[in-house]
Amino acid sequence: MADKSGKLPREIALEARAATGEKLYSPSAARNRDAIRDVVLEVMPSEGKILEIGGGTGEHGVHIAAAAPGLAWHTGDPDPASRASIAAWIEDAGLANLKGPHAIDVTADDWGVEAGQPFDGLVSINMLHIAPFTAATGLFAGAGRVLRCGGVLFVYGPFSRAGVHTAPSNATFDASLKSRDPRWGVRDLEHDLASLAQKNALTREAIVEMPANNFCVIFRKQ
Ligand SMILES: C[S@@+](CC[C@H](N)C(=O)[O-])C[C@H]1O[C@@H](n2cnc3c(N)ncnc32)[C@H](O)[C@@H]1O
Repeated sequence: MADKSGKLPREIALEARAATGEKLYSPSAARNRDAIRDVVLEVMPSEGKILEIGGGTGEHGVHIAAAAPGLAWHTGDPDPASRASIAAWIEDAGLANLKGPHAIDVTADDWGVEAGQPFDGLVSINMLHIAPFTAATGLFAGAGRVLRCGGVLFVYGPFSRAGVHTAPSNATFDASLKSRDPRWGVRDLEHDLASLAQKNALTREAIVEMPANNFCVIFRKQ
């Protein structure tokens, strides 16, 4: 539905989200949050400062922060409805280590957090394929600016490998993303992300296969 200015709202998620007041619930987050949390806990230090971008409903942030009291988890999203949901989840959770919401748009040249103490980790879940490629460029450039040496960039989603989809369902998914917005699409670990990593002093350290043909990909800042 168009807003008062006549503009169509920007589409940010593929699925219908349920709501209780401002709190939104994502069916996919309910399905994959345990598996994602477990990999995040494995690759991040037990204590430190983590920046989650594109936090969406806020459910991943709450779920991970609840399991990692030593991590100061800063989450947020550029989308106002998502930010309202994140704020409601943060308030309900009452976790001392869960902070936000910030409004970082990764395509900005300055995220407004560069001047502070660098982050130990940067987390992006299900964002790279549901955003224009400038979001990938911006995420990696931002990782180069905000992570400490040795800090971790964690990304989760579907990825192709050297131009080949890892499953027929991912090829179908890629086509459906592009039909919704030609700037969206499954990103390629070798053809798209390797050069962005190299340009921003990040080394790919691990690729973890996840359910439903998704991956966690771990980069470390040199
Ligand atoms: C499909 S949702 C995923 C939300 C959440 N991470 C999850 O997995 O449930 C993608 C999110 O990325 C955010 N996003 C899109 N473009 C962005 C950008 N340029 N900078 C930061 N976040 C962005 C959207 O607002 C949206 O909340």
